[in-house]
Amino acid sequence: MITRQTVDKIMEAIDIVEVIGEFVQLKKRGANYVGLSPFANEKTPSFTVSPAKGIFKDFSTGKGGSAVTFLMELEKFTYPEALKWLAKKYGIEVDETQDRPQDTAADNHRENLMVVTSYASKFFQDAMWETADGKTIGLSYFKERGFTPDTIKKFELGYSPDAWEAFTSSALNAGYQQQFLEETGLSVKRDNGSLYDRYRGRVMFPIHGFTGRVIAFGGRTLKTDKNVPKYVNSPESEIYHKSNVLYGLYFAKKSIRDQDNCYLVEGYADVISVHQAGIENVVASSGTSLTVEQIRLIGRLTKNITILYDGDAAGIKASLRGLDLILEEGLNVKVVLFPDGDDPDSYVRKVGSTAFKNHIEQHKQDFILYKTNMLLKEAGNDPIQRANVIRDIVESIAKIPDSIKASVFVRECSHQLQIDERVLLTELNKMKLAKAKKDGQQQQRQQYPRPDEMPDEPHFFDEDVYAAETAKPIETSITQEREIIRLLLVYGNQIINWDNIANTYIGPFIIAELSDVEFEQSDCKKFTEIYKQQLENGVLPDEQFFIHHPDKPIVDLTIDLLATKYTLSENWYNMHKIFVHEEQMNMKATILGAIFHLKKQKVGKILDQLRTDLQNATDPIDQDAIMGQYMQMKKIEKHIVDYLGSVIIK
Ligand code: GTP
Ligand code: MN
Repeated sequence: MITRQTVDKIMEAIDIVEVIGEFVQLKKRGANYVGLSPFANEKTPSFTVSPAKGIFKDFSTGKGGSAVTFLMELEKFTYPEALKWLAKKYGIEVDETQDRPQDTAADNHRENLMVVTSYASKFFQDAMWETADGKTIGLSYFKERGFTPDTIKKFELGYSPDAWEAFTSSALNAGYQQQFLEETGLSVKRDNGSLYDRYRGRVMFPIHGFTGRVIAFGGRTLKTDKNVPKYVNSPESEIYHKSNVLYGLYFAKKSIRDQDNCYLVEGYADVISVHQAGIENVVASSGTSLTVEQIRLIGRLTKNITILYDGDAAGIKASLRGLDLILEEGLNVKVVLFPDGDDPDSYVRKVGSTAFKNHIEQHKQDFILYKTNMLLKEAGNDPIQRANVIRDIVESIAKIPDSIKASVFVRECSHQLQIDERVLLTELNKMKLAKAKKDGQQQQRQQYPRPDEMPDEPHFFDEDVYAAETAKPIETSITQEREIIRLLLVYGNQIINWDNIANTYIGPFIIAELSDVEFEQSDCKKFTEIYKQQLENGVLPDEQFFIHHPDKPIVDLTIDLLATKYTLSENWYNMHKIFVHEEQMNMKATILGAIFHLKKQKVGKILDQLRTDLQNATDPIDQDAIMGQYMQMKKIEKHIVDYLGSVIIK
């Protein structure tokens, strides 16, 4: 872990305008700086930086935070990576401690594996660029495939000599431990315990993790012998989980964000060729079908995926189901086909970069419409087949979480399928209802463990109403909880000077007043816990403490509450002054109002629960007890309401 002292030094050095200014052109406006959002495509600047608070807020995407958060969002750094980047920028030496042995042990293990893969990558590159065989066999193969030396170097391609122990003995001589050579799969153990190279006489494609370190390899044979597997890939290891990795992502991530789209291809060679042609937002799932983890990896960078397929339809058909997964994750999917069995790699080499880009632009089609067309063609005029197609398509559409988007597809597919839109909608609603019911039943089961005692009158219930109710959770006390957090942030370290309460800070006052209230929102709950913890340590945490907290949900909540339009946007500046003025003039009403509104809310919930309990209770003794609690709570509610009236209406 980076030491507290180093973190403090970095925090002191940060000039948020300077840091963000490296990525975004900022213009001064009033007390703040504004620029075009680096997270969205926008024409009017909505991205605001407040040097006074040390925070940014992007009003078009809702992102916000400190300089550290900014780097984490934009560069996809982890927290320590962002800190190290800043330390480097400001010339601060980074001290790290090893205070949690189990973490450190795991980290050390991963680190040991990565040291080995990185050594191997260097070894394979040297073997290609600096040995005679490497040059005539490996390098010339890549060149023949049309890869330029720059591309070969960028992707760190290499060659593994055609010998049993070239790599292994070099690594052992260099002092790398047998255990790590085996675990990374670079070496394989013989029965007699000695090791030999997994990759022999193969060209090597290193696979980079999200931060650019080599975590695995794909080795391609140069033989045409059908009995030799074309690719040998690294086995799963502690640093390489195949289903969480996309080949090329490290080189593509910036472009994916800039272009707001990710091209998905099948093979290593496709990624490299397409990248070399100037389309850098390209990744491959490398032979496996796309996993949810991989889709989410892309989803953090863009909501748009375009699949580049080779022309052979069998492959596409096989992957149709996998594509529904992408829809389910809420991403948009387009597909582009290539003619005559060309794959992206061969096609871009054949026609060149410009024609390739044109082909993509002219032939990209929406996945669902494409799927509809393809299945329809297959079904021909067979009515049963056509009915299956409809069901299949509606199933895909039902996966789309955004209902507006889904309804657009219903319209378009109804044209293609030549079927009344309402028929499709009915199908769609049926499917959604079935799902809502299933989820609803699961919820009900949790709430009522005795389903046999449920009232037996479901015959006339309206399915639509039922679905609507089960689909929408009721969120009432959320705003009140957030208001409390906002007050803690903004006024927590101001001193109260009311007639009956004086010389106490607002923060501890609020915390004490709400000690019997359980927060429901996990981030608000966590926030109050951290606040309490700090108070117990004798510290009164302020805005900056929470802005720079290592926990992302806490920072998000903080920024959300601090950076409303009122506080950051200049347009709202005057209104903000009035708003703040009133709030501060009437501090007592603001603070007590918030506390008691929240309490009222919680009491209301308890009352609701008691009412339900009362209805369900059959034993008169139970009923009596519940009634007693109910009356008690009612009294408390009345107190609160009276109190609110007296404080607020002054
Ligand atoms: P080229 O034939 O050199 O163009 O290779 P390619 O990278 O275009 O691969 P291809 O389209 O044949 O296959 C797509 C991907 O599937 C490859 O990049 C590999 O990740 C994977 N793959 C292909 N063949 C094998 C194999 O024999 N074994 C394993 N494990 N993976 C393979
Ligand atoms: Mn290929």
